[in-house]
Amino acid sequence: MKTSKKKMLLCCGLALLTGMAVVGAGFAQNAASQVKSLGGGKVLDQLNKAPDVNRQSTPDGGFGRSYRQQPPLIPHKVERYQITATNNACMRCHDWPGNIEAKAPKVSETHYVDRQGARLDKIAGTRYFCQQCHVPQVDAKPLVGNDFKNSVEVK
Ligand code: HEC
Ligand code: HEC
Repeated sequence: MKTSKKKMLLCCGLALLTGMAVVGAGFAQNAASQVKSLGGGKVLDQLNKAPDVNRQSTPDGGFGRSYRQQPPLIPHKVERYQITATNNACMRCHDWPGNIEAKAPKVSETHYVDRQGARLDKIAGTRYFCQQCHVPQVDAKPLVGNDFKNSVEVK
C-alpha cells in the first residue's frame, strides 16, 4: 500500500471516530437531563450528627465483666492503633508513666511479668498483642443466644 493511501484511510477512520464521539455525547446529555435524584427535588437542609469518633456505643459505666478473670473490654475505638514489631500504639496511653497524661488505666502488673515469672520494665512478649485478649465492646444485639453463668451466679 502506498503511504498516501494509508494516510487517507487513517484520516477517514479518525473522522468516523470523532463523529461517533459527538453523537455519543449527545445521547449521554439527553439521558442525563432525564435522570432525577432519588430524593426528588428536595434540598437537604439537615445534616446527620457526626459519628462519635472515639467511643464505641457503650452504655454509661461500660459493660462490666462477666467473670473475674475476664480481660476488660475496650471502651474506645481501636482502628487507628497499630501494633507492629517495633511499636505498640496501645502502650502510648496504657504504659506507665504515659498513662497519667492520657488518663488511661495502666495495663495490669501481670502484663509486665514474663513466662518465667521475671518482672520486666516493659510489656511482656506474652501480652504484646493486646487484641488477642481485649476486644472493643459495642452495644449490639447478640447474634447467638448465650446462657453463660459465672461462678457467682451459679451459686
Ligand atoms: C489515646 C490514648 C489511648 C490509646 C492509644 C489506647 N487507649 Fe485504651 N483506653 C484509653 C482511655 C483514656 C481509657 C479509659 C476508658 C475510657 O475510654 O473512658 C482506655 C481504656 C481501655 C481499656 C479498659 C480498661 C478497663 O480497666 O476497663 C482497655 C482494655 C483498653 N483501653 C485497651 C486498649 C488497647 C488494646 C489499645 C490499642 C489497640 C488501646 N487501648 C489504645 C486510652 C487509650
Ligand atoms: C493474654 C491475654 C492478654 C493480653 C495479650 C493483654 N491483656 Fe490486658 N488484661 C488481661 C486480663 C486477663 C486482664 C485482667 C486481669 C489482670 O489484671 O491481669 C487485663 C487487664 C488489662 C487492663 C486493666 C488493668 C486494670 O488494672 O484495670 C488494661 C488497661 C489492659 N489489660 C490493657 C492491655 C494492653 C494495652 C495490652 C497490649 C499491650 C494487653 N492488655 C494485653 C489479658 C491480656
